[in-house]
Amino acid sequence: MQYTFPEGFWWGSASSAAQSEGAANVGGKAPTIWDHWFETEPHRFHGQVGPANTSTFYERYREDIALMEQIGHNSFRTSISWARLLPDGHTVNQEAVDFYNKVIDELLAKGIKPFIGLFHFDMPMYWQEQGGWESRETVAAFAKYAELCFKLFGDRVACWMTFNEPVVVVEGGYLYDFHYPNQMDFKRAAQVAYHMMLAHSLAVKCYRALSLPGQIGIVLNLTPSYPRSSHPADLKASFIADLFFNRAFLDPAVKGVYPQELIDILREHDQMPVVQSGDGELLAAGKIDLLGINYYQPRRVKARMTAINPGTPFLPDWFFENYEMPGRKMNPYRGWEIYERGIYDILINLRDNYGNIPSYISENGMGVEGEHRFIGEDGQVKDDYRIDFIRGHLQWIHTAIAEGSNCRGYHLWTFIDNWSWMNAYKNRYGFISLDLDSQKRTVKKSGEWFADVSRNNGF
Ligand code: BG6
Repeated sequence: MQYTFPEGFWWGSASSAAQSEGAANVGGKAPTIWDHWFETEPHRFHGQVGPANTSTFYERYREDIALMEQIGHNSFRTSISWARLLPDGHTVNQEAVDFYNKVIDELLAKGIKPFIGLFHFDMPMYWQEQGGWESRETVAAFAKYAELCFKLFGDRVACWMTFNEPVVVVEGGYLYDFHYPNQMDFKRAAQVAYHMMLAHSLAVKCYRALSLPGQIGIVLNLTPSYPRSSHPADLKASFIADLFFNRAFLDPAVKGVYPQELIDILREHDQMPVVQSGDGELLAAGKIDLLGINYYQPRRVKARMTAINPGTPFLPDWFFENYEMPGRKMNPYRGWEIYERGIYDILINLRDNYGNIPSYISENGMGVEGEHRFIGEDGQVKDDYRIDFIRGHLQWIHTAIAEGSNCRGYHLWTFIDNWSWMNAYKNRYGFISLDLDSQKRTVKKSGEWFADVSRNNGF
């Protein structure tokens, strides 16, 4: 069967500043929480490889953008580093302005639409020391930073993304100990989540006031929540998981309001964040033009069977347990489930319950541990498994579009194998492999395949 995508479909990949630029303390950049955390607890990072050790996009952006063109990209997402642009929190770093101007101009010169994120987990240490997302001050600071970016680069950026996966900042930093500042406290987590959505809304409001030519959105990792069975207790478990991990961000971003059921649960358990008068109007002003969807794997849940010990602090997990469904297909090289149809379910949910908001797949990808095992005699990674993975997801996207979904593009995570937080270089995801020592880039088999897909607008 031939799968042809709508004209103008965005083909590309995504990366982020902290994961690709390197130059961690070069060009005037100040430390982020990642630089700080690596300095204080390097053993928590895979292979003790920290954020200074990346694919050096800061120096090699030209070479990389040429490779993007070679493998058929017509669009690419990366992010701006807040700590590079405003190192002391307030003064603009001209070197950073020059760098991002050069990146954006180079992308445009190669016919690649720039999608630019403002925050991809990389809180500047300067703001973290003042409370980070727990502090209302950070909301205003973020909006100022966003406004500066819009004014500097907004004449050329096709699409802005305020945040990447805000729920991961909340889970990692304030619930489950995999991001700095490693707190485990639901009430603080709720405040952080709330402040990020206020910061998002304030940034959208600033963007609208400038009447620039592009669009603005947010990138959410939408994780469909599937119940073990149709028993009411399992259905309730999956409803609540969906509320905490998807709708707590999706509803304010698309509808400008929080789900009432979420507010009810938080009130019942005395976990409401501090809210100020006027916040409702601000959230309503944060409605997006375009939603970026990151999809890796679904969440399968069942009703909680084991009682929570009295005195255990409040967590979303009070309401459900993960369900290891027998027979589910797993990625043997990363341990995550592969469920291609999940991407269709997300798109159809957006069509039916979110006004068919324009969307695109901003990340989807297959992490592979020990990918050097698949290097052929010619030095190329023969990642047929990744081709199958992408093709399987694209088929479901195609079906969703045929059924009326407003999905406009597909970006793989990621372009070149990149540094990934605590996992560093453990899982490789790129279209292009990276030799960390020599910095040599080699297009993988999937990169060559993708070039054809993009040129044919399908497969
Ligand atoms: C996504 C993030 O959630 O997952 C990326 O947006 C991250 O920043 C990617 O690198 C892969 O994560 P991991 O842990 O498998 O390397």
